[in-house]
Amino acid sequence: MSETELILRRRRLLGRHVTTFYDEPFAPVRGEGVWLYDRTGRPYLDCYNNVPHVGHCHPRVAEAIAKQTATLNTHTRYVHDLILDYGERLTEHLGPGLDSMIMVCTGSEANDVAIRMAEAVTGRRGLIGTDNTYHGNTSAVSQLNAHKTPIGGFADHVRKVPAPDNIFPLGGSPDGQAKAFCAEVEKKISELQDTPHGFAALILCPYFANEGFPSLPRGFLDRTVKAVHRAGGLVIADEVQPGFGRLGSHFWGHERLGFSPDIVTLGKPMGNGYPVAGVVTSPEILETFQKQFRYFNTFGGNPVAAAAAMATFKVIEDEGLQENARMVGAYALERLREIADRQEAIADLRGAGLFLGLELIREDTPATDLSAMLVNEMRRRGVLLHSTGRYAHILKIRPPLVFSHENADLLAETLASAFDTVMSRQ
Ligand SMILES: Cc1ncc(COP(=O)(O)O)c(C=O)c1O
Repeated sequence: MSETELILRRRRLLGRHVTTFYDEPFAPVRGEGVWLYDRTGRPYLDCYNNVPHVGHCHPRVAEAIAKQTATLNTHTRYVHDLILDYGERLTEHLGPGLDSMIMVCTGSEANDVAIRMAEAVTGRRGLIGTDNTYHGNTSAVSQLNAHKTPIGGFADHVRKVPAPDNIFPLGGSPDGQAKAFCAEVEKKISELQDTPHGFAALILCPYFANEGFPSLPRGFLDRTVKAVHRAGGLVIADEVQPGFGRLGSHFWGHERLGFSPDIVTLGKPMGNGYPVAGVVTSPEILETFQKQFRYFNTFGGNPVAAAAAMATFKVIEDEGLQENARMVGAYALERLREIADRQEAIADLRGAGLFLGLELIREDTPATDLSAMLVNEMRRRGVLLHSTGRYAHILKIRPPLVFSHENADLLAETLASAFDTVMSRQ
């Protein structure tokens, strides 16, 4: 069957509006390390995917899943040591107080549970999120998403604050941004306190990944976290994108900003593609949640899920992938800087570890079209990346952590020539 026939079949079965990347949709059939291969065997350098965190089809993760699948897999009401081994390993890497865990299957579920934990602890429902975020697809969590208005409008207990921004900083200057962000959160807390909902929690990605990951100084959220706690609320850090060593200097996004969340949610990279996610919090918060809600998850943390997560974790450590993200990320940033110095449309180049972005602006306007043209040109040239940000005008580079210096060279060289081609067509 041709790729065109595949796409038509996909649309018919999965819906016309099912999300597909690129003008010419990509249909990989095999993955290995940082490479994806199409049916002709053509390799594509994966500079985008964070799910295959330790590399596509890592043999140790694949073997752990296969072995456990062939030994035992059942629901989570039976006692099994793998989930405990994993929980201990994971929580050792989180700060004091973050000692208890629930395993679930998706990031959406993790955030859903985290919100319910905040409701159980505070007895209130008011929730604050940032204004161009994505925290998942459950009915509760999708209220936080930016793009489409839910039927009946956004729920009254959910309020949005503007996310920080590099080019248009809140409060008018980078120095004033932390204070301005806090002031926005305080305003929404007080609005919620004037409603029957009250205020329960602030949820955010500590790298503001979906908002284009502005460069923020350590301590940026200190004042905001204090304001949330003063109001009796909880802080939920959604580590689905920045977590597990991707940022290089730190294992977690919140660690890099230097604050301690009350609840941490985890997802995508956790099982290297196996659907496993988690919520980590204090024993007290977990107990309050369990008293308030009868919560059971058939698949979350079953022996195979725990084996996948454990193998992924061990590979991150054994292969020094956090350090690799730091070193190769810094090198990639240098190579991309050469392009940024030549191309006027690159208004900003930023990022940490292997999570980098180029913000494109022309005539003071976010260059959404240019970004789309580059993404498609790169795909044609065999390098996969994508865009993010409020106007999809930021090229997002977020490869598996086994990315090498040579891969960074190939990315930079391909992007430099893709830029020349696209600009020459203007
Ligand atoms: C920050 C963030 N949180 C949560 C989710 C939802 O995760 P999942 O798709 O596993 O439900 C996503 C997915 O893109 C995400 O980017």
